[in-house]
Amino acid sequence: MKIGIASDHGGFTLKHFLAQVLRDTGYDVEDGGCAGDSSVDYPPIIARMAGRVGSGGISRAIVVCGSGIGASIVANKVKGVRCALCHDPLSAELSRRHNDANMLALGGRLIGEEMARRIVEVWLSTEFEGGRHGRRVGQIHDLESSETMTP
Ligand code: RB5
Repeated sequence: MKIGIASDHGGFTLKHFLAQVLRDTGYDVEDGGCAGDSSVDYPPIIARMAGRVGSGGISRAIVVCGSGIGASIVANKVKGVRCALCHDPLSAELSRRHNDANMLALGGRLIGEEMARRIVEVWLSTEFEGGRHGRRVGQIHDLESSETMTP
């Protein structure tokens, strides 16, 4: 399975760590940058990776910025993306079971490596429950093509 991973400078160190964890686990990792800890703007980097997921080029991706907030906001602008910002394994589990999150955002300056490793393990191994949650994810999908947010 191919996993995308991308970050800005605030998430670079954690991205580097997680990319190695994923490779060691046997995943095919597509690294969308950035390449170091020099300051860069996160929106284009994260939007490019979100586009890979939204277009179906890859099924899952992890994005990391300093807080995870900017990365999640950007990713969720892209059609077809459901990006969950998680700081703990339970949130990661629920983002898969209930929301079918196809992107995970992490705060590289907020969580440690072992917490991030556990969050990613849970996020990658938890299946979507479907059922009533499938209906709700479908309603989220419908909002992407509607003119207003009025239900
Ligand atoms: C960069 O300084 C920082 O603003 C960015 O990594 C992220 O936290 C934005 O949400």
